[in-house]
Amino acid sequence: MDLGTANSLVFVRGEGIVVFEPSVVAVDDRTGEVQAVGADASRMIGRTPASIRAIRPLRHGVIADFEMTEQMLRYFIRKGGGGRLPLAQVVLCVPSGITKVEREAVQEATLAAGARAVYLVEEPMAAAIGAGLPVAEPRGSMIVDIGGGTTEVAVISLGGIVSSQSIKVGGYEMDEAVAKHVQGHYGLLIGEETAEQAKLDAGSAWELAEELECQVGGRDLQSGMLRRLELGSEELRNALDAPVQRIVTAVKDTLEGTPPELAADISDRGIVLAGGGTLLRGIDQRIRSETGLEVARAESPLTCVVLGAGESLNELETLKRARPGRGRKARGRRFHQLRSVYAVAPISTDMDAPCVLPRERASHPGDERFPAKPS
Ligand SMILES: Nc1ncnc2c1ncn2[C@@H]1O[C@H](COP(=O)(O)OP(=O)(O)O)[C@@H](O)[C@H]1O
Ligand SMILES: [Mg+2]
Repeated sequence: MDLGTANSLVFVRGEGIVVFEPSVVAVDDRTGEVQAVGADASRMIGRTPASIRAIRPLRHGVIADFEMTEQMLRYFIRKGGGGRLPLAQVVLCVPSGITKVEREAVQEATLAAGARAVYLVEEPMAAAIGAGLPVAEPRGSMIVDIGGGTTEVAVISLGGIVSSQSIKVGGYEMDEAVAKHVQGHYGLLIGEETAEQAKLDAGSAWELAEELECQVGGRDLQSGMLRRLELGSEELRNALDAPVQRIVTAVKDTLEGTPPELAADISDRGIVLAGGGTLLRGIDQRIRSETGLEVARAESPLTCVVLGAGESLNELETLKRARPGRGRKARGRRFHQLRSVYAVAPISTDMDAPCVLPRERASHPGDERFPAKPS
């Protein structure tokens, strides 16, 4: 599962992607009750009765409201399980900004939703696997994942993240920049969905062969009346420049902090882009021009994290099948397999730490399927 700041996806082995919905929860403020989750809740944004509020609990890559996150996670996992609970194993990708305590809490919530074991994967690692990068090889690969609330830049080699950066700038900040521009220049107040639509219709990070136009509608700040407005792609590009530049700077900073040998690999093979934000027109060209490196978009930027998580399920199986044989050769083999599993679950880099796989299921009083473990 990919628990993203903008979209959450669930991939079930043998079935493919079964859930792809916005990470939104609609809550009734009077009762605190969750009214809807995902696509249903998203439809309520900006159109809700006064007491119903639609929130994005992970908006800035940190958990703003843990209870909401937990309910959302539970909903998606149940939906992904399609009634065949409990799901045996869940590989979960969360934004790297969340704290260790929150990570553990998210794991607990996944178990409580019916999973028998849960493994956490660093998002850039899953993105890299999903994009088909050779993460286990002793060669440096760079992945740039531009999501809704965050951008994660990482250099990966030998199954581990060698250097990385996570900034709280992504698609949402681009939308905000558009809204701010329209308000500042035209005195027109537009909603976040309208701003996002303008970005999708005509936004870019590099000069276009053919410049575009789009329309936005909002409320005139002076008259209070509804008004529509044409926006050109050049002015949108200017409006988007600040968040785009912050992303490019994060890429350059990460390159600077990369050991020379790995940096040489990256300059040979280039940078791979993942995440919905990389669908912005010309962002690849912009990064290419500012770094001087080759840049390629992953085949499916919106789904590559969950596909990578799905692929890592296979790695877990490999480890489980591995017999704890004796002798150097067997140890070497196990080490190699462990390495690749740690690649998918690098909560700890200590090879002996047992905390990584799998977490014991929390006991559920009264549920004989999950008896409490004798302490
Ligand atoms: N064609 C597009 N052009 C620009 N931005 C896009 C496009 N499609 C999606 N996005 C943006 O991608 C972001 C969501 O990307 P996603 O990878 O799903 O985020 P997350 O992983 O944080 O949930 C949103 O901000 C959305 O506006
Ligand atoms: Mg993501």
